[in-house]
Amino acid sequence: MSKKAASKKSKPAKKKSSKPASAAAAKPALTESRVFKPSAEFSKAARISSMAQYKKMYDESIKHPDKFFGREAKELSWQKPFTKVLEWKCPNAKWFLGGKLNVSENCLDRHLNGPRKTKAAIIWEGEPGEKRVLTYQQLHREVCRFANVLKRNGAKKGDRVIIYMPMIPEAAIAMLACARIGVMHSVVFGGFSAESIKDRVNDCQAKIVVTADGGYRRGAVVPLKKNVDDALQLGETTVKKVIVYKRTGQDVHIEEGRDVWWNRELEYVDANCPAVALDAEAPLFILYTSGSTGKPKGILHTTGGYLLHSYMTCKYVFDLRDEDVYWCTADVGWVTGHSYMVYGPLALGATSLMYEGAPNWPENDRFWRIIDEYKVSVFYTAPTAIRAFMKWGDHWLKKHDLTSLRLLGTVGEPINPEAWMWYHKLVGGGKCPIVDTWWQTETGGHMITPIPGATPTKPGTATLPFFGVDAAIVDDLGKEVGKDEQGKLVIRKPWPSMLRGIWGDKKRYQETYWSEFKGWYFAGDGARRDKDGYFWIIGRIDDVLNVAGHRLGTAEVESALVSHPAVAESAVVGRPDELKGQGVVCFVTVKEGVKTSRELGEELKKHVRTVIGPVATPDEIRFAAALPKTRSGKIMRRLLKQVAAGEIIKGDTTTLEDINVIAQLAASGDD
Ligand code: PRX
Repeated sequence: MSKKAASKKSKPAKKKSSKPASAAAAKPALTESRVFKPSAEFSKAARISSMAQYKKMYDESIKHPDKFFGREAKELSWQKPFTKVLEWKCPNAKWFLGGKLNVSENCLDRHLNGPRKTKAAIIWEGEPGEKRVLTYQQLHREVCRFANVLKRNGAKKGDRVIIYMPMIPEAAIAMLACARIGVMHSVVFGGFSAESIKDRVNDCQAKIVVTADGGYRRGAVVPLKKNVDDALQLGETTVKKVIVYKRTGQDVHIEEGRDVWWNRELEYVDANCPAVALDAEAPLFILYTSGSTGKPKGILHTTGGYLLHSYMTCKYVFDLRDEDVYWCTADVGWVTGHSYMVYGPLALGATSLMYEGAPNWPENDRFWRIIDEYKVSVFYTAPTAIRAFMKWGDHWLKKHDLTSLRLLGTVGEPINPEAWMWYHKLVGGGKCPIVDTWWQTETGGHMITPIPGATPTKPGTATLPFFGVDAAIVDDLGKEVGKDEQGKLVIRKPWPSMLRGIWGDKKRYQETYWSEFKGWYFAGDGARRDKDGYFWIIGRIDDVLNVAGHRLGTAEVESALVSHPAVAESAVVGRPDELKGQGVVCFVTVKEGVKTSRELGEELKKHVRTVIGPVATPDEIRFAAALPKTRSGKIMRRLLKQVAAGEIIKGDTTTLEDINVIAQLAASGDD
């Protein structure tokens, strides 16, 4: 984009009475009349430059998916061409039948024949400040070498490898190395505990764990290797090898015969490793995410469809160009890190920036410093982070030159209009389109999102469906609701990057996603559409919380709490949180004879951190003599949510077994 184009500001098309939601509520507004059109210069340079073009492509993708996706998929590198685009027997989809390809080859090898060979694939900055750049050629070499290390340590096609790494290039190298040899990876977020690692290792029967001695976060060292050691001591394990990358240099325990150093292993291998031809439906990775039971679900993604969707969305939604410096701030442990830090941008031959640490280390301007230094042009982050930046104050960004930015994105939770406007004005200088992308671990890539050169945006809405996504909002009977009415968000057609199952649990896959409405995917989110057909995501309608953009099952926290000897019963609910979107409130009844105290509350918070990890830390523990239940014994969460939010209890309470418990709960505090 030219400098001139970049300096033109996009203006609200209409600026009538807008009704911004309160800054305290991280919820989308129910009415919004501000509309922002992309600037003519942005549109002109974009791959999709008008709504007419978007609509034409969208119509084709829905009416003739074979033609549309068959054409798009030809942009990938196939070792054997596919013969059929889709076979759909609900809930089982097969995309690109007969085709063979390799994700790592698509992300690396195919860029080595032209000028991208020496282009930066990954630009990395460590939290303490180290910098590294890996060109496509260098990344290819490291991936080949590490794939050989995996083979040397027994990895075979179809095996599972757990990756529990800090945000360093080696995390991406390990993922791509697995993909290269047909091994499935399951990345576990570095903020998860030993127990969470153990659960995931056991569920997918992993053979190898790839980790580091430690990683840096907010100036402290996260003891990754120690967590792995602890996890593998918790009972029987399928893990035969642990490959340890030396990141921090701290002392770690090395188990003879099981643990090997990444750096040492490289001495035994060469850099030749052919990318194996894999079936388009060959499993690529499993990523665990929270559901409404205590057991996280291993979401399974496969090769061809997933790669195509992440590639296509980087092309059309981020409109990534060779000259862009693109930064997705998500951790590699979440799906956003998979699709939009590693696979999508690399498949497109883009430059992906990776930063190891916290946004406020050593000071609150770390992100702005990075954008300025590397001249980031496309920036993708979470509303939670934006709200934190707002709170820290505008002066932190004003110290830096952010004019390199040309496109902004958000993901993970609804963005409140104030945060959107702040992002637009202060970060984007009023000139950058914002793509508010709605999607999920299960969907693999963007589902509802603006197309930046085409879609007029409004603060707080993810706008319209991406190609091939037949989204609708329906009532409990599956009937589409009217304009502005709230209902359940469903997807009525298969799409290339849809999950292919829950690892080892066909029944749960069918029941969770395909049973609420026969033949349709039920996302678990509530939404409404406005007069322009734009989708406004309200949030989860199941027992899943969204805390700072991270999914957390209430049942997971509950089972962590009851594993503490003092706890008899617990119920966990979310309450609106100005920064994190939702906070975690735990109602706890203790066992006979146990005295409640502030100290016990703190101990329980710590206990949840130990069992699940810091991401699940409760905001508040509220002790109660009893929990409100229906006559059939079901905990009345609706009431607890109202109590947690400090609201007056509304609605029907006639089925309550003991109405008195409500009054006691409302009055209960941390002690
Ligand atoms: O509730 C929706 C919310 O995040 C959930 C998916 O979480 P997860 O699988 O962890 O993936 C997060 C990154 C894709 C959804 O069910 N969500 C995600 N993006 C948005 C959103 N809510 C509103 N607007 C979004 N843009």
